Amino acid sequence: LDLGVLISGRGSNLQAILDAIAAGKLDARVRLVISNRPGAPGLRRAEEAGAPTAVISHKDHPDRASFDAALVTALQQAGVTWVVLAGFMRIVTSVLLDAFPGRVINIHPSLLPAFPGVSAQGQALAHGVRITGCTVHLVDAGTDTGPILAQAAVPVLPDDTEERLSARILAREHELLVHVLSAIAAEKFAVRPSATPSGPSRV
Ligand code: GRF
Repeated sequence: LDLGVLISGRGSNLQAILDAIAAGKLDARVRLVISNRPGAPGLRRAEEAGAPTAVISHKDHPDRASFDAALVTALQQAGVTWVVLAGFMRIVTSVLLDAFPGRVINIHPSLLPAFPGVSAQGQALAHGVRITGCTVHLVDAGTDTGPILAQAAVPVLPDDTEERLSARILAREHELLVHVLSAIAAEKFAVRPSATPSGPSRV
C-alpha cells in the first residue's frame, strides 16, 4: 500500500499509521504527507519517521479545483495509490477523487451519518446521545457522506466534556484507521468506482 496522507494539524492519526508500519503491523509505506497548513505539528511527526512531506497551501490557489490539482500532481509524483484524509480540514473535489477513484478514505469522529462536519464530538454532547464513535469511510463529493468501511462505538459518560469525549474517541480512531488500512492492504475491501463520477462504492 503506497499511502499519501493529507493533514491540517496535530497528526495523531498519521502517527498511528507511522507507528503501525514501524511495528510491522501494517504492510504499507507513507510515500508523502501533505499539509495545507505550514507548521502543522503532524509534519514533524512525518519527518521524525523519515516520511517525505510537502506543504501545499490552499491559500496559494484561486479555487478548490486548482488546489486539488496541485495535490494530485504531488501525490502521483510520489507514487501514491491510496489517499488518507487524516484531519484534513478541506473539502475535496472531483479533481482529487477522479485521480484516485474509490481510493480516498477519511476518518471522522462520529458514527456517521450522525454528526457530519466540524465538531462532531460537540454535536454528540449537544444532542445527548449515549453512544457515539468514529467512522472510516470512502470519500465522495459530499462532506462525510461516502460509503462506510468500518465503525467503532464509544460511550458518552455522565459529565463528559468535549475534551474528554474527543480523547476517548481519538484512541479508537487510531485503532480503526490502522485496522481498515490493514484490510485494504490485504485486499479485503474490493472497491470499484461507481457509475456516477466521483462516487465510489463498496462491493
Ligand atoms: C480526528 O478527530 C479526525 O477524526 C478528524 O480530525 C481529527 C484529526 O486529528 N477528522 P489528528 O490530526 O489525526 O490528531
